[in-house]
Amino acid sequence: MTNIGNYEEKYRSFDWSQAREILGYKEGDFLNIGYYCSDRICEQGKQDKLALIWEGMDGTVKKYTFDDIRVLSNTYADYLRSLGVRPGDRVCIFMDKIPDLYISALGILKLGAIAQPLFSAFGPESLITRLENAETKVVLTTKKHASKVRKIKADLPALEKVVIVEGEPKKLEDWEALFNLETAEKGEQFESFAADLETPSLLHYTSGTTGQPKGALHVHSSIFAQHVTAKWVLDLRDDDVYWCTADPGWVTGTSYGIIGPWSLGVTQCVLDAGFTAERWYKFIQDHKVTVWYSAPTAIRMLMKQGSEIVKRFDMSSLRYLTSVGEPLNAEAVHWSKEAYGLPFHDTFWQTETGSIVISNYPGMEIKPGSMGKPFPGIEATVLDLKTHEPVVESGKVGLIALKPGWPSMFRQYWRNEEVYKSKFDKGWYICGDRASIDKDGYYWFVGRDDDVINTGGHLVGPFEIESALLEHPAVAESAAVGKPDEVNMEVVKAFVALKPGFEPSDDLELDIMNFIRKKLSPLAMPQEIEFVSSLPKTRSGKIMRRVLRAKEWGEDLGDISTLVEDE
Ligand code: WT7
Repeated sequence: MTNIGNYEEKYRSFDWSQAREILGYKEGDFLNIGYYCSDRICEQGKQDKLALIWEGMDGTVKKYTFDDIRVLSNTYADYLRSLGVRPGDRVCIFMDKIPDLYISALGILKLGAIAQPLFSAFGPESLITRLENAETKVVLTTKKHASKVRKIKADLPALEKVVIVEGEPKKLEDWEALFNLETAEKGEQFESFAADLETPSLLHYTSGTTGQPKGALHVHSSIFAQHVTAKWVLDLRDDDVYWCTADPGWVTGTSYGIIGPWSLGVTQCVLDAGFTAERWYKFIQDHKVTVWYSAPTAIRMLMKQGSEIVKRFDMSSLRYLTSVGEPLNAEAVHWSKEAYGLPFHDTFWQTETGSIVISNYPGMEIKPGSMGKPFPGIEATVLDLKTHEPVVESGKVGLIALKPGWPSMFRQYWRNEEVYKSKFDKGWYICGDRASIDKDGYYWFVGRDDDVINTGGHLVGPFEIESALLEHPAVAESAAVGKPDEVNMEVVKAFVALKPGFEPSDDLELDIMNFIRKKLSPLAMPQEIEFVSSLPKTRSGKIMRRVLRAKEWGEDLGDISTLVEDE
């Protein structure tokens, strides 16, 4: 039996009040994610059950029970309170996938503050745009990453404290502090902030086509959706050992790497080490992983290593595989069936949706290459590209759209009402992706409707890259687009026109690439730079990325003279 039972029946009968019941929440209760993911699990008698099995790069393994997580997150909450953090303040978590990341996230939420996780590979420029916009008060980081924060501190007036929770720099700045979870005085009891359904919880930054990244703000009641989707889509059960490979710097790593599994009292494991097929398979073997949530790029990397290597490991513990972030090609589904004896189940959602909205469910027939069907409680459709009316013909491509109102939907883009509003039309939230729906109601992903680049499941905004490129002394103007890549689906390619006095060369290409890698992140680094004398523009001077992108993908845009007009 699967947790969801019959999908069609659930889709017909479900409403979100059932998610509250499934979580055990009653009208008038306070609703704090930090409490629900630790104290409450202990109250259910699971205090000695393992919550987290963590493995580091060098093979060190650390284990934490739900009671450990409860006490240690209290410890973080106490400490942050002593620093003057108050409900609603933004606290950034900027570190590798060490236990402190997971534990401090719950501590921040217990305090009623807003957790702002940022991917640890971000460089100073990626950091400053996000910390400045959020007016972040405290950054929790490690010695390894603290220098990137030091570089920008002077430009962040709202930032009061940078706390180093691992390692010790030779000298501390006066706004820096050391905190050590192991030696800190433990918080046996902490009264969680009495959050209500609409109290802000997490702030996740995501990239759009224009402008800098936007902070999608979530609230504590998102847990209703994360809890029930973790149960029905990931099929998590009490005896599972669950592995979500995502980094909590991205929404998958919080919704399904913290909140979903822990609100269910499920043991999860984390591998804080780089990718190799051997390491991943050994991790599954050693910890007897049963449910695995990963991403198509990782699956393609594993596919490249072949199925022979799979046989060297005992992966018989695996029982359910799921994937998110980019199109899961049919080939990957077939391959995983052959290599692991289990197909990957695709799930579709976004930072903004906060939880899975379209998916292949356990027990429902998979059509390889399709994303599946809407989750119960989610009314979805595709809208005509121009009129924004629902498309009636099956198979016709339109914009994926959702009826607002599910609990984990983002409540705003932080200090950006205008862009938030632009995501809605005719009563629908428009995801920004194109798809078609077949006659059986399955969704087939086609591509993004904007210029955002999806590299290995991570979105990067062209504007962010182009702004950083402009800071390079040789760059006069530029355009960043996605070009096809066998493993990452897309990688960044930049078209660059040089300033007078600069000549194209391999050295200059390398220099510009490294400039972006250091400033933004390895993800945003162009894998190729094409030097051009000018860029295609509309009459008003807007760069037509679409023309450049089409060339990379070998697509024919037809008569481009029409594009020259501004829309
Ligand atoms: C964008 C959202 C929330 C998951 C992590 C990414 C793309 C996501 C799929 C899928 C094809 C997918 C879309 C979406 N995407 N899942 N199953 N098939 N594309 O969150 O960073 O907000 O990215 O990722 O383009 O809009 P995100």
